[in-house]
Parts: sequence; C-alpha cells; structure tokens
Amino acid sequence: MQTVSGSELSHSTARAVRGSVFFLTDDPGIEPDPLDYYEFYDDGILVLGDDGHILDAGDYNQIVAKYRLSVSEITDFRGRFILPGFIDTHIHYPQAEIIAAYGEQLVHWLEKYAYPAESRYADIVYARTVSRFFLSELLRNGVTTALIFGSAHKASIDALFTEADKLNLRIIAGKVMMDRNAPDNLLDTPETAKADNEALIAAWHKKNRIQYAITPRFAITSSTEQLSIAGQLYHAHDDLYLQTHVAENLNEISLAKKLYPTAKSYLHVYANFGLVGPRSIFAHGIHLTEDEFDLLAEKKAALSFCPTSNLFLGSGLFNFNKVHQKNILLGLGSDVGAGTSFSMFQTMNEAYKVVQLHQTINQQSGNKALLTPFKAFYLATLGAARALYLDNKLGSFLPGKEGDFIVLNPEATPILKFRMLNTQSLAERLFVLMMLADDRSIESVYIMGRRWHEGNI
Ligand code: GUN
Ligand code: ZN
Repeated sequence: MQTVSGSELSHSTARAVRGSVFFLTDDPGIEPDPLDYYEFYDDGILVLGDDGHILDAGDYNQIVAKYRLSVSEITDFRGRFILPGFIDTHIHYPQAEIIAAYGEQLVHWLEKYAYPAESRYADIVYARTVSRFFLSELLRNGVTTALIFGSAHKASIDALFTEADKLNLRIIAGKVMMDRNAPDNLLDTPETAKADNEALIAAWHKKNRIQYAITPRFAITSSTEQLSIAGQLYHAHDDLYLQTHVAENLNEISLAKKLYPTAKSYLHVYANFGLVGPRSIFAHGIHLTEDEFDLLAEKKAALSFCPTSNLFLGSGLFNFNKVHQKNILLGLGSDVGAGTSFSMFQTMNEAYKVVQLHQTINQQSGNKALLTPFKAFYLATLGAARALYLDNKLGSFLPGKEGDFIVLNPEATPILKFRMLNTQSLAERLFVLMMLADDRSIESVYIMGRRWHEGNI
C-alpha cells in the first residue's frame, strides 16, 4: 500500500450550523408521512455546546434570537441537509481489501477471500495502516459510529482503537473469536481468547468514546467451551456488547445444526450460552424461524439488516415485514467486505429493493410493509442507536446528545440535481437521496462538534 488516507479533526468546536435540519424523534413505522416522528426545519440551525454536545436545534430565526448568535458564530450550509451521523451496525474492517470478490457464497467466500485477508492482521503496522484507511472511508461516507468486527488477532483491535481514539470516534469493536473450522493461523483457543478479550476490555472498554464487543464469529467456528467463555465475558462487565452472525445462509444453518444437534434452533445455540440479550447484535437473520424472531423480541436483542451483502452472496431476502410486526430492534449494516458499499445511502437503496422483492415472493403474507424513506433514515440513525442502546447519546438532535452530524448536499451529482427539481415533499427528497446519493453527497462530517478533515499520510 503506497499512500493511505489519514485524517484529523479541526481544533475548535462549531458554535452553530445553519441548513435544513432533519432528524427522527421516534420510530416512524411504515407510515408514508409520519409527521409526529420527526423534526424538520427547512431553514434550521443546530447549536453546539463547548463540550461538543447538542444544545438546541430548530428554526433559524427563533434559535438565533434565543441564543443571541452572531453571524460569525454560524457556519452557513444553506441548501444542504444537516442530519445526525449515520450508524453502521455491522462491518468487518479487515475485509475492506476484499470488497467485491467474485463468485462465491458464504462458506466458500470465507475460505477463499475473507480468511486469507484477515490473516494479515497479526501485523500491527499493517493493521494500523488499514485502520486509518477504514476509518476515513467510514467518515467519508458520513458513518460516525459503527459496530465493527476485527480479525482474530488482538493486534488488529489495538490498532483500530488507537486510530479511532485519535479521532474521538464512538465506535464499538471486538477481536474475532474462532477456535475451530478455520485456517490454523487464525485459530485461538478458549483460554487465549479469554485472555485477549480481558486485556482489550481493560485497555479500551469505555475509554473516551470506545466500547468493546465480545465477537464470536459464528457458531460454526466456536466450540461449546469458547461460546461458554464468550457468555461469561459478556456478563462480567457493564455495557459490553455481543456481536455475531446468525441464519445467513442455508449451508451455514445445516452446518450449525450438525455441530449443535441438541439446540432448539440456530439462535438457541447462542441463547444457551447467555449470548442473546440487550446489547447483542445479530447480523443477517435471513432464515430465522418464528420462534427465533420471538426470542429476539423477548430478549430485546437486535438484528442488523445487511442488504448489499445478502444480495451479493446470494444469501436470501431479509424479512423486514416480520421484524416490523414483532417490533424487534433493528439497524442497517454494510457488512463490508461481503457488503458492496460503505455508503448508508446505497445500503438503504438495496434494503428498499430487498423489501420489495420479499413482498413479491411472499404475496400470500398480505401485510404490505414497504421501507419508507423515513423508516430508512430512522434505521441509519436513531433506530440503530436504539439497537445499540446508545439512543441517550446518538441518533437525534435532542439537547444533550453528542454532536456527531453530517452535512448532505442533495444536489451533489447531475442526476440528483435534476431529479430534486421534480420533488414536492420531504418524503420524496429523502427517497431520492436514499436511492441516488453516495459519498459524493457527504459534504462535511462533524465529530463532537469538530469538523473532520481527510488528508494524506
Ligand atoms: N459469517 C461468519 N463470518 C462471516 C463474515 O465474515 N461475513 C459474513 N457475511 N458472514 C459471516
Ligand atoms: Zn458479517
């Protein structure tokens, strides 16, 4: 790798930013225009405290008067949208280099592409270089918080957290636990995984804005002893997360059944070790049964819907309708490198299409739950914050929330500009953004009120 993007934050905290301020205040469900669930100020302003938290958001004229703001204190983004930063609830940082790898489905894709790539992260210098690139790529796409898989190496997580901490990012990540059914150089043991996790938790969990996630890759690559240790760790510390994969692919599910023949279901494999609960996030869940959906709802655990990955690996179509009916906590995930884009817009775009297709294929279900633009933006902001139990800090512009926000140019490309001329409502403009926008629409990114700058190192 020759040059890799690095980045830094500007020194001073913004006092206020002016533009079209938009954020969700609650789950809009599937109502096409859910007035009571969002705030929108066409000529709006966001005011920040010295510590980078949100002080207020609202109509420009009212707020300027209330805070006696002078023009020099306001950064003018008129013509742009100002939104809470996006949250990606499932992504693998050591897979950025294999995004768009041709021709395989899950199990072979792991063997052919993911495991060889991840084996390079024993090297902390390499891991740091890629961490910098990866975090820049998240930020370029307006993703200010993510729940991240590392590799099996402790070094990979030390490197990622070191770089994230420099940027004061709120991220959650963990070392992958795998003690079987993977290449030898990626295997840990229940004991080494325990020691590595404990060291990482002691060094990083709740340090500044960083949090730790216990990360058994999936049931296929962890023994009962290892899942048991994962359960002990998950319960041993406050506010720890648990992230893993479930019911993504039919071959994977039959393998899980063979390896855990007495478990009632795939999700019950995890539940039997105490791994299903608040702050546990399960990626995919495409082929879950009714009982498994009920278990997620009952335990207040979350799913991550990763449409670009599910389409790319031919895994199947996520049952958004069911998740909506059962009121299961939900966020969107890019799942890079099986996912094909870091962009939350592109993730929303494919999520919409997956929901459409699922409906076509399951005509008999009767319930028509489309992914509305309000719901899509909810899932990428406040909904994800709720799935991660971080909605007291992130996801909206209510006073006291952390000042991570993005400035979107709704006319960043010729087709966006042309199409926007032909929109009548906020719902339409949001929908056009979710279908057509990408990183080119992310004009500025602020972390705790400080503007992020991309650079070269
Ligand atoms: N299941 C287990 N590991 C992985 C992974 O790295 N990517 C995806 N998409 N599914 C998985
Ligand atoms: Zn994944």
